[in-house]
Parts: sequence; structure tokens; C-alpha cells
Amino acid sequence: MPLLKVIVASTRPGRIGRGIGDWFAGHAAEHGGFDVEIIDLAEVGLPFLDEPEHASTGNYVHQHSKEWSATIGEADAFVFVMPEYNYAFSAPLKNAIDFLYYEWRYKPVGFVSYGGMSGGLRAVQMMKQVVTTLRMVPAGEAVTVFTRRQLDADGRLTVDEGLSASATGMLDELGQLTAAMSAMRSAS
Ligand SMILES: Cc1cc2nc3c(=O)[nH]c(=O)nc-3n(C[C@H](O)[C@H](O)[C@H](O)COP(=O)(O)O)c2cc1C
Repeated sequence: MPLLKVIVASTRPGRIGRGIGDWFAGHAAEHGGFDVEIIDLAEVGLPFLDEPEHASTGNYVHQHSKEWSATIGEADAFVFVMPEYNYAFSAPLKNAIDFLYYEWRYKPVGFVSYGGMSGGLRAVQMMKQVVTTLRMVPAGEAVTVFTRRQLDADGRLTVDEGLSASATGMLDELGQLTAAMSAMRSAS
């Protein structure tokens, strides 16, 4: 089965992102279309980009970059579990993306976004510009969590039918994109 990596993009203490990522990764495993792994950027612990050469050269001098390259290179598809910070994506996510180049190329990406009024959608719109620059293909189906409505008093996600359905819809679309893009990667 194709390998889906679910990337948790918030790293701060007390974040809600890991709980949302754990829910989505569990849902994705039950979906059955992918092998699923969760990657928590707080655990990966990348520094700010410190490679002397552009990632397109593949010349990484630091061990953390080589390991990050292997982690992303083996994946067939991604889901970014991403908060909205000041109407934008989180800095750790952008930094993790910038470390690499071909490892992202021609792979699909779905978004589980969250935030107050907007459900993180402004951050997703900005992220689409970044991922398409790397020739990733964003899924149109998306999972949008409105934290004011969908978190309980303890900050835990309440998963209703709508949220589950949106997650399944996005995974279905990612499955189709993954098949098409794996063929494309093999051909190139
Ligand atoms: C630096 C910062 C900026 C934020 N900006 C926004 C924002 O623009 N829109 C929004 O809906 N929520 C915003 N919030 C609230 C977040 O949605 C909320 O804190 C959420 O828990 C952040 O995700 P995290 O806990 O996984 O870090 C912001 C929070 C932080 C810490």
C-alpha cells in the first residue's frame, strides 16, 4: 500500500495539533487505503534551515537534513495537520518544507486545518502556493476544524459525522491522486 505521512505542524507546548493529528492518523488507518505514519515536527526538532546549498542539489551536510530527506523521500502522500497563526501557516511547517526539494515533488498533499473563525483556511490557501511551487498536488477535499465549535472544555476534538465524512472524502481523493502521481514519478 502507498505510504501516507501525516505531519503535525504545530510544535508549541500545550498545542492542540497533536490530538487532531492522532485522530486523523487513526481515521486514515481505518480507511484502509494507505499505510499511515505520523510525523510530529515537535519530535523531529529541525533547527532553522542551516544547509549551505539549495535542497535541489541534494547535497546535505547535516545529519538532521539527511534523516529528514529519508523520512519524506519514502512517502507517497502527505497530510499536513496545520494551525493558522496570524492568518498564515506555522513557521515550523514552512521551515520543514524548505529543507527539501525533490523529496516532495509530484506527491499529493491534503490539509487538516484548524483555527477559530476560519478553520485555518487562510493558512491553507497560503500553503497551496508553497506546495505547488514544489510540484506537489493539493487535494481539493479538505478537513476543516472550527476550534470554537469542535473542541470540548478540555480542548479535545469532538468528532461528528461531518468531520469524519470530510476526512474520508479527502483520503479517497488522495488515494486517486497517489495512484496517478506514483505512475508519473515512475515515468520521470
Ligand atoms: C501565534 C498564534 C497566532 C494565532 N493566529 C490565529 C489566526 O490567525 N487565526 C485563528 O483562527 N487562530 C489563531 N490562533 C489561535 C489558534 O487557532 C489556537 O491557538 C490553536 O490552538 C493553535 O494551534 P496549536 O494549539 O496546535 O498550536 C493563533 C494562535 C497562536 C499561538
